[in-house]
Amino acid sequence: MPHATISPITVHKIEPQPGSSFDFGAEIRGADLENITEADASAIINALYENQVILFKNQHTLSPKAQYELTRLFDPSATGYGHGKTLDAKRSILHPDLKTIPHQPQVQVIGNGPVAEFEGLKNITLKHPHHRTFHKEAISDEDDRENTRFYRWHIDAALYDLEPPKVTSLLAVKVPKTEFQTLRYDDGTGDEVQLSRGSTAFVSSYKMYDLLSEEDKAFVRGTKVQYAPHPYIWMSPARSRSDGLGLISDNLELPNDQLPPIDESKIKILPMCWKNPVTGKLALQVHPSAVQALHLADGTIISDLKEVREIVHRLQRPGIAPELVYAVNWEEGDMALFNNRGVLHTVTGSFLPEEVRIFRQCNMAASEGVVGPDE
Ligand SMILES: [Fe+2]
Repeated sequence: MPHATISPITVHKIEPQPGSSFDFGAEIRGADLENITEADASAIINALYENQVILFKNQHTLSPKAQYELTRLFDPSATGYGHGKTLDAKRSILHPDLKTIPHQPQVQVIGNGPVAEFEGLKNITLKHPHHRTFHKEAISDEDDRENTRFYRWHIDAALYDLEPPKVTSLLAVKVPKTEFQTLRYDDGTGDEVQLSRGSTAFVSSYKMYDLLSEEDKAFVRGTKVQYAPHPYIWMSPARSRSDGLGLISDNLELPNDQLPPIDESKIKILPMCWKNPVTGKLALQVHPSAVQALHLADGTIISDLKEVREIVHRLQRPGIAPELVYAVNWEEGDMALFNNRGVLHTVTGSFLPEEVRIFRQCNMAASEGVVGPDE
């Protein structure tokens, strides 16, 4: 990495639209992502942990290798994709959504529509995740073009064996520009958000923590979350709430004897709050769909799935209020990096089969575990 003591990089906070009040996100200007100096690297790392989502414009020509190196800046010892090889399991709910770039296997292609050739992948068909494949009840076909949902609020993490990636990068290669959609929560609140079709929605898990009562803050600081073994296979028959924030408890999850072999030592029990390495702030950071049990500070274990999910949903729901959602309105060449240990994110939108959209995504299983509130 070239030496330079002063970086030309500048940080510009994203201005929320009127009526919106999210307090994170920034555009980074002046970065040459193919030639990152040490000063640039520390500017980028600080910008990410202070703003949670950072956006670089006009990165059309950035190579998959440079994207990998940029993502690895945050964790130089990490080498492998965040889900490891678990995506090979055909029953995983993540399996249909991702295609691996052969010459840079930490980088995945996601999107929609037929693609003749892209980075060594030939004649692939990408499929944008549509909420009807995951939510218990879907928007009607006649309303579907104008309306959408949060597909699935999540952290990018295997949550079994591997450590949650520190950051994820997303490069918008091809973006069909169409009209805005109304994103509906459909949970009886009347909440909705206007967003550009296919926006990626983010919320701050620091804000999610800050919104809690003092009693709830003490609860989440002392509680640990146990994730299901092979969570994306385990949850595959289950269906989501209409707000995309966790699953409905209909006893559809696969029992252990229908999962791949389980190594108890690989089951993840993680703090409910994760500490920001630069600001020290606490994020209420839970993957709501993969949760299986809660371990309370007094030693109690809550393992009734319905109760576990009700607790987690009550704690997280205020943090996804419409005014707190930063929906990235993608333009081709946009490269976003986000703090995967401090935000939740979800895809939105629905596309026609012929609408072509291509993104490159990269994250890596971290070389170290998450940092809880007391560490
Ligand atoms: Fe993701």
